[in-house]
Amino acid sequence: MFKQNWRAIYMIDSRIRAVMEFVRSGSRVVDVGADHGYLPIELARRGLATKIIATEKNRGPFEAARQNISAAGFGGVIELRLGDGLQILSAGEVDTICIAGMGGGLIKKILVDAPDVVSSARQLILQPMNDIKKIRELLAEMNWLIDDEDLAEASGIIYEVISAVKVIDAPKIFKRESSPLRRKFFAQRIAKLQRVVAEMSKSDSARSSEKFAATLAEIDTLQRLC
Ligand SMILES: C[S@@+](CC[C@H](N)C(=O)[O-])C[C@H]1O[C@@H](n2cnc3c(N)ncnc32)[C@H](O)[C@@H]1O
Repeated sequence: MFKQNWRAIYMIDSRIRAVMEFVRSGSRVVDVGADHGYLPIELARRGLATKIIATEKNRGPFEAARQNISAAGFGGVIELRLGDGLQILSAGEVDTICIAGMGGGLIKKILVDAPDVVSSARQLILQPMNDIKKIRELLAEMNWLIDDEDLAEASGIIYEVISAVKVIDAPKIFKRESSPLRRKFFAQRIAKLQRVVAEMSKSDSARSSEKFAATLAEIDTLQRLC
């Protein structure tokens, strides 16, 4: 339960909100370099994610996040880990990776140093403070597709936020981009996946499976591409 008296010291700015708004409902999320812990706390407060891991490399911010998470009443919901980047996660633990408020070079290093965790994810939400070109180049090299972007202004500074998705057949999708059949093709695929979701929704175990989350993610991706 969110502690009302904690609201007074809790502040989500538009930069963090922009990152959070790319998170899809039902995701399993890691926030790398959580610092104050505001993003994972807001995710927990909105009930957006089914699993939330917050990581910190440095002891000071780790303690700040621990205190804020506990003060907000989400100590039992958000798993806080101390360590470097994504190396303290196993492949398949999360489907959504958020990295915000760091330089593009550091974000790139965190992604490159944990290839198994990255390739088992389905969405990257990245908000580099600089060197965004490095991030765009890396995503292209890794065959991730930027499916959406946003700008957010906080304290007079404008920040860029990128959402990227792993689309297994991204090159095929690009070839179809100019085809008049593209929209119809995606609509048919979405309808088919929605039937799968409806069928899986009937069973508790199917609803909590990786396939269910992956199917929802694919529907979301295709809807954005339409
Ligand atoms: C400027 S803060 C950004 C905090 C928050 N993500 C935000 O956007 O407001 C960067 C945080 O990342 C942490 N950090 C830096 N390198 C890291 C790494 N390799 N792994 C995990 N955390 C890291 C720092 O300790 C710091 O708390």
